Amino acid sequence: MSDPQPSVASLDTIVSLAKRRGFVFPSSEIYGGINAVWDYGPLGVELKKNVKNAWWRAMVQERDDIVGLDAGILMHPQVWVTSGHVASFSDPLVECAENSHRYRLDELPGTENLTETDKRDPAISERLNLKCPQDGSKLGPPRRFNLMFKTFMGPVEEDANVIYLRPETAQGSYVNFKNVQQSTRKKLPFGIAQIGKSFRNEISPGNFVFRMREFEQMEMQYFVRPDDAARIFEEWLPRRWNWYRDYGVTETRLRFREHAPDELAHYAKKAIDVEYLFPFGWKELEGIHNRGDFDLSRHQQESGQNLEYFDPATNEAFIPWIVETAGGPDRAAFTFLIDAYREEEVRGETRVSLALHPQLAPYKVAVLPLLKKRPEIVDLCQKLLGDLRRDTMAVYDDTASIGKLYRRQDEIGTPWCVTVDVDSLEDNAVTVRDRDTMTQERVPVEGVKRLILDRLAASLA
Ligand code: GAP
Repeated sequence: MSDPQPSVASLDTIVSLAKRRGFVFPSSEIYGGINAVWDYGPLGVELKKNVKNAWWRAMVQERDDIVGLDAGILMHPQVWVTSGHVASFSDPLVECAENSHRYRLDELPGTENLTETDKRDPAISERLNLKCPQDGSKLGPPRRFNLMFKTFMGPVEEDANVIYLRPETAQGSYVNFKNVQQSTRKKLPFGIAQIGKSFRNEISPGNFVFRMREFEQMEMQYFVRPDDAARIFEEWLPRRWNWYRDYGVTETRLRFREHAPDELAHYAKKAIDVEYLFPFGWKELEGIHNRGDFDLSRHQQESGQNLEYFDPATNEAFIPWIVETAGGPDRAAFTFLIDAYREEEVRGETRVSLALHPQLAPYKVAVLPLLKKRPEIVDLCQKLLGDLRRDTMAVYDDTASIGKLYRRQDEIGTPWCVTVDVDSLEDNAVTVRDRDTMTQERVPVEGVKRLILDRLAASLA
């Protein structure tokens, strides 16, 4: 079998489509932008919302054993001391001798195979003869750079009032473990799912929305008996893989990669990433972690609160272990967008389409008039649109010829277009066109909504 190839050769293809069609814009662009912060436009906000809904559906709605939580971004600062983030949540930073340009060591050319031990070696820059990519000067020894953003709580800006913007949602689930368990009466194993913003002062952000300083996470913390952790960890691997596959990601562009012992995060006993083949190489899409009893034990010790679980079946009290699935809607939406990108020749022209899963597509259906000058046609379009909108995201467009209108909808991934033509006024039927096959079928007006909603529902199976 030949090696898998990325869906698009160049990231620029996606960045330019995203900007042109209103998926993603650079933040504060009129002021020159701000590095590694991106704004979601009208279509991007729909796509990302649909990704979050799809995750929530699989992780919470369809399961008995997982419940949701929405904890604050700001937390007691001791949380981040206890969790180990103040001491250990850092990346290796190197600085150049001439102009103090700063880089993340393991993002420099020639550092692809560094071990974690190498990244802490003070002689590493010299050993690899690393040079500043901007001015060619020598690079210094690596320093650890903490990735947490700090701010102040209250009106006095002094050290005692420093708090952090959370770098992961997970800790909100740990400090609420008892609240959730007692209020829901859940028995082990059970999970807490969260979607929300996290912040990291990444040293070398980039690759569009892949690595941002402000982003969202979709994380699930699954509390288990210690002797169940290894088995349950293995169970979550195919579940998370299949979620990406079921929502359209090409499986040959997915792989698992286990973290080497010296690469494990400070909390992890074992970690396996689901990786995706991006245009810039294989990178983490989501991490699955066996966190052991690290988090709850530490929080119990530092807070003085009992965080043990009492098992009525065995009469035992113990600290549960945690299996975590840690992904993010930005990176997932980006992956779905890249993987859905298609270019093909149709009648001598290049047709660009996004073969997005119908559940993820920003608009499910577009209603288009063949002749916008005929008020009866426009009226029928508006009637159909109004009806469709009660149940799903639908859009109307009459600003070009029908061929162009179809191309526009293809390019933003709209699975179905409904066209009203002159005959519709006679036979009370419209044409439904499929994005992927471009086939057209004639459907009675009163059956259109049912057809679209049925196809949408069928896409979930
Ligand atoms: N609680 C564990 C944890 O935070 P992580 O692998 O550092 O693990 C989990 O992050 C997920 O969060 C990543 O797989 C990615 O989807 C998302 N993520 C992390 N940093 C990100 C960033 N700078 N920009 C966009 N997404 C990010």
